[in-house]
Amino acid sequence: MDEREVLRTVPIFSELSDEDITSLAHLALRKRYPKDTVIFFENEEGDFFFTILEGRVKVTILGDDGREVILSVLGPGDFFGEMALLDNEPRSATAIAVEETELLSLHRNDFQTVLNDNRSITTALIRVLSARLRRANHQISTLALLDVYGRVARVIVDMAREEGKRLRDGRIAFRRATHQEIANRIGTTRETVTRMLKDLERQGLIHVEGKEIVVQPDFEKVFD
Ligand code: CMP
Repeated sequence: MDEREVLRTVPIFSELSDEDITSLAHLALRKRYPKDTVIFFENEEGDFFFTILEGRVKVTILGDDGREVILSVLGPGDFFGEMALLDNEPRSATAIAVEETELLSLHRNDFQTVLNDNRSITTALIRVLSARLRRANHQISTLALLDVYGRVARVIVDMAREEGKRLRDGRIAFRRATHQEIANRIGTTRETVTRMLKDLERQGLIHVEGKEIVVQPDFEKVFD
């Protein structure tokens, strides 16, 4: 795909005119990052806005003791790195490519120009930031109100909704995250997640099938 076609696949750029897409294609830089590359660290100065073309990026906060809290795992079409450009503060989190990833980056001056010239991008940006705030509120309530068993069940429901595809028989299949990744989303340990998932499997509510976790259609109702 040429640069312009690629940009058309990115939701926040989808309403740009052909002319604006062409000028954006000249400004944006396309680059591949191997698995586990840190794109930037929390608290660094940030000058670039990134859009994911391929792969997945983990947005995370690392504690001094090596523990981490995963805020989100973003995929193709998602953007990140906008906050430091909008409020001129340092990066609010660390971004790491969790698989081989291709990113499109835009320098802060070009990001500002594109934003000033295109209302559709500002509107799309606000919509996505509102959705992220809703999701963060949901995460806060999960952490504050549920016990560990409830948190594991809730994160399974969330992952099934966010990443899952529905199978013909009504079950939902989604990427089998590592137990450590699930633990880091909900502030618990890998061992606890392993124990809880085994329990859910024993009850017949979930099944691990190869690289996927498959949940029963009524799983959401049981735990929502
Ligand atoms: P910035 O602060 O520049 O760098 C870290 C980026 O992570 C941030 O911009 C956002 O793009 C992204 N980010 C921060 N918090 C969240 C969140 N809760 N959900 C999704 N993305 C986030």
